Amino acid sequence: MLVRTRRGRLALSRAAKTIAILSVLWTIYDVLRVRHHLARSSAVEPPQFRNEKIFIASIHWTDEAVLRSHWAPAVAQLARDIGPANVFVSIHESGSFDDTKSVLQILDADLELSGVRRRIVLDDATHKDEVEKSRAESGWLRMPGEKSYRENWTEWFTLEKGTWVLLLPIAFVFVMLHADWWLQVPRRIPYLAGIRNQAMQPLYELQQSGEVFDKVLWLNDVVFTTDDVRKLLGTRGGDYAAACALDFKKPPLTYDTFALRDSEGSPALMETWPFFRSSESRRAVKHGQPVPVASCWNGMVVFDAAPFYHSERPLAFRGIADDLAEAHLEGSECCLVHADNALSSSKGVWVNPHVRVGYNGTAYEAVNPANGASWLSSLDIATGLWRNRMGRWLRALHMTDTTVQQRLQTWQSQALDRRELGAFCLIDEMQIMLWNGWGHA
Ligand SMILES: *[C@@H]1O[C@H](CO)[C@@H](O)[C@H](O)[C@H]1NC(C)=O
Repeated sequence: MLVRTRRGRLALSRAAKTIAILSVLWTIYDVLRVRHHLARSSAVEPPQFRNEKIFIASIHWTDEAVLRSHWAPAVAQLARDIGPANVFVSIHESGSFDDTKSVLQILDADLELSGVRRRIVLDDATHKDEVEKSRAESGWLRMPGEKSYRENWTEWFTLEKGTWVLLLPIAFVFVMLHADWWLQVPRRIPYLAGIRNQAMQPLYELQQSGEVFDKVLWLNDVVFTTDDVRKLLGTRGGDYAAACALDFKKPPLTYDTFALRDSEGSPALMETWPFFRSSESRRAVKHGQPVPVASCWNGMVVFDAAPFYHSERPLAFRGIADDLAEAHLEGSECCLVHADNALSSSKGVWVNPHVRVGYNGTAYEAVNPANGASWLSSLDIATGLWRNRMGRWLRALHMTDTTVQQRLQTWQSQALDRRELGAFCLIDEMQIMLWNGWGHA
């Protein structure tokens, strides 16, 4: 008996050792393979611009520093590299607290000198004006007005979710008696969607005069180069509904996760490489190939322009319905646009992992090291692979949170015509405009 357990223990420890050794070998193999794919694909030269017409669009608010140091010169250079005949630059800025306007005026003059066509709107309307407007037909929310956040208007604030739920029934009784007890606030997302659609207007005006663009390139206030744009445009040989970069503020963490959904519509599993949860998206990123996703934006995104010209239902930016947002849900206009895009299912939405932009120079250099060095170390790859694996195992054990689905279902069941194509974009958040920016509620 004693001998037996001893033998059993020995066998167990031998099995454990074998598993450990196999895991190490497996990890080494994985790391080598990933490094090989990374090295091979980063050696590829960025493709030249084809003779395509590119419409460049961006919106700005209080981002003078990066515009002055990197973005504005990069846009001017990009427009010259594409060539004035094939490019239009559309920029919308409003109510910045810093001197963003004067940087854009310098860019305007620079583009003029290069003969680049453009529309640069410098709007004096501030967030404060938006907040103080009277309620518009859509894009507004009703919030219980008793909390002190109005006095705290200057602060970035969060209304505790618990308080919110407790307040609702009381608030409902109250509102019957005092109709204006509700605080009316504009939502952030419909506001942004409206501005983006405004920035798209020149596309339609040029169409009237017979000029049609092939691609629409949206830029955030990021550090980038013309070669980054060449690589992005050349994703899958130019065959995509949309293709996005990866964006970094504090490398190795990616920044913009609000609009990023993997091939199964799940949010990123982790902020570091290999980011994704679905096996299809993970496999691509490990092979250094364009990553199929349901949605992305990531600082820089290029769209096939065709859906924006659709004669009956041109693709446009939008928010989710106000009454759905009142259930404490939100979805990014940058995600919903992919959900609405008819081309997304046929040509796909892709993240190009070889295009990495940064929100300042330091971040950009960290993810684009000089002399063709790899931006990921072997340790980054090994820990990334294992953290991702653990994350998926843990998730499989846990109950999934169904709050968002339940709220969506309740909303849908309240009327027949209620439908949200971008269900995978939804998160448990409420975002409102504040006079000095925006906040979560
Ligand atoms: C860039 O941003 C990071 C993170 O916000 C910051 O730590 C760093 O100092 C910034 N670098 C520059 C040059 O501003």
